[in-house]
Amino acid sequence: MRTGLIKHSQYTELLRSVPSFHSLPEDVLSKLTDVLEETHYSDGDYIIRQGATGDTFFIISEGQVRVSQNNAASDEQATVKTLFKGDWFGEQALKGEDVRTASVTAVGDVTCVVIDRESFKQLTGGLDDANNKQYDSEEVKAKLQAEADFFSS
Ligand code: CMP
Repeated sequence: MRTGLIKHSQYTELLRSVPSFHSLPEDVLSKLTDVLEETHYSDGDYIIRQGATGDTFFIISEGQVRVSQNNAASDEQATVKTLFKGDWFGEQALKGEDVRTASVTAVGDVTCVVIDRESFKQLTGGLDDANNKQYDSEEVKAKLQAEADFFSS
């Protein structure tokens, strides 16, 4: 997606606020910002339907959404959560699960940024890698601390 510079940096910040993305290097976050799509919804629109297949991850950049699940016994949709600006959903897609576990509908006007699984995998190597990187840096920190302790004793 082509965005202005200000919007690009705002969206990079929005991505950084998602814990799974937090430890990604700046250049990867910037590339993810290049490939994301901005989508708009009106009140009551379905963004995700429970049981459908899907490979996209959403972050709310404006507005709020309702997460609901179908109660098999009564066949009613029950609200399980309301999500707001900065919240994300559809993360099952990034874990490789493609059947949606809940429905998500717009409450009023909503703007989301959307990343598809393939772009995410190509740019980050998947969630495991992002998590491993964090682990590595903890390991490195522990080694540096051990060295510091050794030299200061
Ligand atoms: P996914 O299963 O890909 O699509 C529906 C999304 O709704 C799901 O990912 C989660 O992001 C979100 N979701 C499902 N269940 C809950 C819940 N109990 N509370 C908050 N969010 C949920």
